Amino acid sequence: MGHSYRAAGVSERFPIAVLVSGTGTNLQALLDTVHGREAEVVAVASSAARAPALERARALGIPTEVFARSGYEDRAARDAAMADWLAQRGVRLVVLAGYMELLGEAFLQRFPGAVINVHPSLLPAFPGVRAIEQALAYGVKVFGVTVHFVDAGVDSGPVILQRAVELPDASEPEEVLAALRPLEHALLPEAVRLFTRGALEPDAENPRRVAMRAVEG
Ligand code: GRF
Repeated sequence: MGHSYRAAGVSERFPIAVLVSGTGTNLQALLDTVHGREAEVVAVASSAARAPALERARALGIPTEVFARSGYEDRAARDAAMADWLAQRGVRLVVLAGYMELLGEAFLQRFPGAVINVHPSLLPAFPGVRAIEQALAYGVKVFGVTVHFVDAGVDSGPVILQRAVELPDASEPEEVLAALRPLEHALLPEAVRLFTRGALEPDAENPRRVAMRAVEG
């Protein structure tokens, strides 16, 4: 009675953080799948105080913090404060899930090779904001989703997973988004699973390529 030990095994789950700015459906997908299983979401950081994503974390008692750009002298100061908060929580993987800010080199160096992002296009096509609108404007007939490691560029890091969907008649962003959502919600947790298992490594011959290593479990 009354002891404060956590259930056996809980503390051994791989501690991850999720960075958000908006609705948080990708965060929810992580909370519904890997959280409490392969991984433990130990921190959710938002660039926006009103992001509905924060409520999703709070509902499960997950610590949240807002790191608004306006609250700091510059981006580097914001990044440093956020990195400190994440490091204090023992975070070993940082997942960007609809996080709408760029992260500087200094932040990335605090979590080397351990920051991943989900992007609603088949990179390297259509990086940056409004990817779906860019793809529609170009006139493509195949859309898709990419989960990739984050480097100092814009959506330019090594690709971990991609999935495509043919939408030859699409004309509205909402329609494409609705088709891409389920892909994002499957691929992001899958990439987290692979990472926590130690299954991802750079291909020796082409470090831009992420190789999948067979691992136990
Ligand atoms: C997703 O489409 C993601 O690919 C993009 O921003 C959106 C975030 O959606 N980078 P949500 O906040 O996870 O619902």
